[in-house]
Amino acid sequence: MCGIVGYIGHREAYPIIIKGLERLEYRGYDSAGVALFDGEKISLSKTKGKVSDLKKKTEGAMSIKGNIGIGHTRWATHGVPNDVNSHPHYSNSGELVIIHNGIIENYESIKTELINRGYTFQSDTDTEVLINLIEEVQKKEKVKLGKAVQLALNEVVGAYAIAVFDIKKPDEIVVAKLGSPLAIGMGDNEFFIASDASPFIEFTNNAIYLEDEEMAIIRLGKEIKLRKIKNDAVAYPTVLELQMNIEEIEKGGYDHFMMKEIYEQPRAILDTYRGRLLADQKLIKMAGIDEHLDKFLNANRIIIVACGTSWHAGLVAEYIFEDLARIPVEVEYASEFRYRNPVITDKDVLIAISQSGETADTLAAIKLAKENGAFVFGVCNVVGSSIARETNAGAYTHAGPEIGVASTKAFTTQITVLSLIALKLAQEKGSLTDARFSEFLTELENIPTKVEIALQSNEAIEKIAAVYKDSPNCLYLGRGYNFPVALEGALKLKEISYIHAEGYPAAEMKHGPIALIDESMPVIVIATNRGHYEKVVSNIQEIKSRKGKIIAIVTEGDVQVRALADHVIEVPDTLEALTPLLTTIPLQLLSYHIALMRGCNVDQPRNLAKSVTVE
Ligand code: F6R
Repeated sequence: MCGIVGYIGHREAYPIIIKGLERLEYRGYDSAGVALFDGEKISLSKTKGKVSDLKKKTEGAMSIKGNIGIGHTRWATHGVPNDVNSHPHYSNSGELVIIHNGIIENYESIKTELINRGYTFQSDTDTEVLINLIEEVQKKEKVKLGKAVQLALNEVVGAYAIAVFDIKKPDEIVVAKLGSPLAIGMGDNEFFIASDASPFIEFTNNAIYLEDEEMAIIRLGKEIKLRKIKNDAVAYPTVLELQMNIEEIEKGGYDHFMMKEIYEQPRAILDTYRGRLLADQKLIKMAGIDEHLDKFLNANRIIIVACGTSWHAGLVAEYIFEDLARIPVEVEYASEFRYRNPVITDKDVLIAISQSGETADTLAAIKLAKENGAFVFGVCNVVGSSIARETNAGAYTHAGPEIGVASTKAFTTQITVLSLIALKLAQEKGSLTDARFSEFLTELENIPTKVEIALQSNEAIEKIAAVYKDSPNCLYLGRGYNFPVALEGALKLKEISYIHAEGYPAAEMKHGPIALIDESMPVIVIATNRGHYEKVVSNIQEIKSRKGKIIAIVTEGDVQVRALADHVIEVPDTLEALTPLLTTIPLQLLSYHIALMRGCNVDQPRNLAKSVTVE
C-alpha cells in the first residue's frame, strides 16, 4: 500500500514524479504529495485526494523547479486521509524530508520519547515519528544521513520502503526496505526510486530491487552503495534488465485500465502458456515444475494460500488438481493459515498465488510453511516481487502489468498456469489418458480465441447492466468448477460498484439464500452445458418460481435455460475444467458497466489498493 517515487539527476524532477505517482496510484489514492529541492530550498505540497488534486494544488502555487524530488501516493494506515497526514513529512528542523510505504508498529513509544525530548508533531502518522527519530539520531550521534537512517531503522519494528532527503546533503537520497517493495532505476548519472519500475520504464531498463533489510545511499556521480541495515555488511546489487514496455502501462485507447485488462485476456492467456504448452510434442515444459517434480509427485497434499481473487483462482485449482492429477488439495486464505497454527510437514507442497507478489498475509504464510519444511511454489505476476523471491520455485503468469485495482487478467492467467501444472502432474502420474491429455492441450490453445468470442457480448452485457444498475443486492450462483467463478463475480461487483453481492454454490441456495429471492433480486447463474447442467437448471427453476430475475451465463446454442432466464449471455463450449476461463469474462464486463453507470471510479474503487502490503 502506498506508492513512492524519487528522482535525482539532471532532469526536472516534478514531471517525472507526478507521472510516476499516477502510475503508482493503484497502490493507494487517499492523498498525494511531492517535495522538490531546487538547489537552495525544499518546496513541498501535499493534499488529500488523488494525484490530479495534487497537480491542481501545486502548479502555480509553488516552484516546481528542481532536479531532486520525492513523491508519495497514500493508502491511509495511521491517521485519517487529510492534507496534514499526507506524505512527504518534514523533520522538526525542516532539513530532512521522508516518504514511506509501510507501517512502523512501535511508533507510539518512540513518539512519546521524542516528545519528552522536545519534539513536536503535526500529523498522526508513524512516518513523521520515523523522520524525527532519524533527525534525533543524526544530532545525538553526529553521523551522516545514511548512518542515521540505519541506526534509526534498527530501533523500529514494522515494514517500510522509505526515501529520505537531507537539505545539508543535496546530492543524495537514502533509501531502505523491509517488507515493502523498492526499485532503483539506474540511468546515466541519474537515479529513479519507485515502488515498482513503472514510473521510470521510459528512462531506463536497468533496475536494482532492494532485498529486505537492505538500504542504499544514492549519490550523484557515485556508484550506488548497498548495505545491510542490521549489521553494516556491504551488499552487492544485481542490476536486472527489465522487459516491461511503456505501452503496457498506458491505457492504450481504453477509458479505463480495467477494460483494457479485460480485453487483454486473450493475449495474456496466450503469453502465459506460450513456450510452456507444446501440443505437437504432447508436452508441458515449466522450468519451476520440471526441476522440482519429485516434490510435487511425492507430496502428501498441496496447500494453496492466497487472498481475494487469487484465492478464487486457488479454489478453481483445487478442482483441477484433484480432478486431473488426483492430488489432495486444501485452499486457505493466507490470513487465516498464518495465524491458526496449521499442521505443515516436509511432505507438503504449498502454492502461494499472488498477482502483486507483495501481499503481506501471503508472504507470511510462505515464511511459516518454509520454516516447517514445506516446499513453497509461487504463482506471481510481478517479476522480482517479494513472493517471487521468497518461494523455493515458481511460475510467472506473464499477464503484463495489471493496473486496475479489480483483478481481471491476473485471475484468468493464474488459472492458466495452475491448469498447466495440474496437467503436467497428471501426465507424470498417468492419471489422465494420453487422448484426454492431448484434448486438454488442444483446448487450452483454443481458449484465447474463445475468450475473444466471449468478449463480443460486451454490448449486450452493457444493456443488461442498465437494467440492474440500481439493484441494492445481487446473488451469484455456480456449481463445480464454476462455484469459485460465482464468488469471483460477486467480489468484482461489490468492489467496484459497491452493490452488495454474494456468491454461492448453486445447490446451497436452498439452505438459506433462497429466502432473499423476490422479484427485485437479480440472480446471476452460471449454467454451462458441462458438469451439473441439469441440476443448475433445477436451481434456476427454483429461482423463477420465486420471481427472481435470472441472468444466465450459458453455452452457445443453449435452449433450456434460455426458456427460463430473463437474460442469457453465451460463451463458447469448452472442457468443463476450462469453463472458468470463459464464464468469468461476462461477469467482469457486467461489473464494469454497472460500476460505470453508477458513477463509480472503476480503476480505483474506494478504500482499496492494488497491493496489500499490510496485514
Ligand atoms: C480483487 C483483488 C484482490 C486481490 C487480493 C490479493 O479484484 O484484486 O482481492 O486479489 O488483494 O492480491 P494479490 O493477488 O496481489 O496477492
